Amino acid sequence: MCQHPLHEFIAGLPKCEHHVHLEGCLTPELIFQLAARNGVTLPTDDPAFASIEALADRYERFANLDDFLHYYFEGMAVLQSESDFADLAWNYFQKAHSDGVHHAEVFFDPQVHQGRGIPYETIVAGFSAGCKRAESELGLSTRLILCFLRHLPVESANELYETFLASGDYEKGTIHGLGWSSSEVGPPKDMFREIYASAREKDIRLTAHAGEEGDSTYISTALELGAQRIDHGINLIQDPELMKRVAEQNIMLTVCPVSNVKLQCVKSVAEVPIRKFLEAGVKFSINSDDPAYFGAYILDNYCAVQEAHKLSVLEWRIVAENAVQESWIPNERKAELLERITAHVKNYL
Ligand code: HPA
Ligand code: ZN
Repeated sequence: MCQHPLHEFIAGLPKCEHHVHLEGCLTPELIFQLAARNGVTLPTDDPAFASIEALADRYERFANLDDFLHYYFEGMAVLQSESDFADLAWNYFQKAHSDGVHHAEVFFDPQVHQGRGIPYETIVAGFSAGCKRAESELGLSTRLILCFLRHLPVESANELYETFLASGDYEKGTIHGLGWSSSEVGPPKDMFREIYASAREKDIRLTAHAGEEGDSTYISTALELGAQRIDHGINLIQDPELMKRVAEQNIMLTVCPVSNVKLQCVKSVAEVPIRKFLEAGVKFSINSDDPAYFGAYILDNYCAVQEAHKLSVLEWRIVAENAVQESWIPNERKAELLERITAHVKNYL
């Protein structure tokens, strides 16, 4: 456990998580358990899948984003039934709740599941049931964000977008926004231009993974296409003008410090430009990304930031309040969460 004197303050600080992939919460234990239950054969040509321990050990050595994504997409093949998706989400929310999360906006990747023959409706019904359970049993507020995948042909994303529109899931409040993720460098930066233009016309909330491995032009392209926040975004630091614009326009970065280290985007959490963003007035939240793969849930990420950057109680207050302000929730819920932060901070001043 983290030994920092502010640990108790940080653990109890009311948190919002905005960047966690539900499929990234699939632990090696659960992969093997679901593979056995669902009759799914794990890859036989990769020694990493020989045992739970071998898989966990392989996760210690991701060479880069694409190396991680290979295991991430293989692992999720064990998810078959609606209850598999619901249980996975429920597992995450319980852990998040115990880490002090009061509001969570979670990503999911339908395309790869659909490619395995799982219907869109099964995926959404399962994840959404997990969200509902977290709301009723844990008092969390939740938001589900559908992600388009950059390593697949854009036609596959177009088909999914049509299915999403036809489902009415946005109007129903089942899905609250759209994002994109997967391989950054390689596919065209603006590959989802048409989808995002259409979604903007319909006032659908948009986010995008950008500036993780890719340079700051991936961020400017995502903003040009209509992204209202940026997932990761650490390479914003390369472009001071863009950074000014991001600060002025209240565009939040959903930063994932441990993920950045595990995927070799930075050498250490100290290299994640937390202080530079604070000084420049760039809003950011701190998140886990794929906690089961990186061995760090949200509180571990907060602690890693504290170890490396030594924020004060008042600086943490700014981080926590910005996370609430930029959440995709009604003002009444924001007011409730802000009050909880004020009450918590008061005990440590
Ligand atoms: N980057 C891009 N795609 C992803 C990530 C990430 O960090 N995690 C899961 N999908
Ligand atoms: Zn991510």
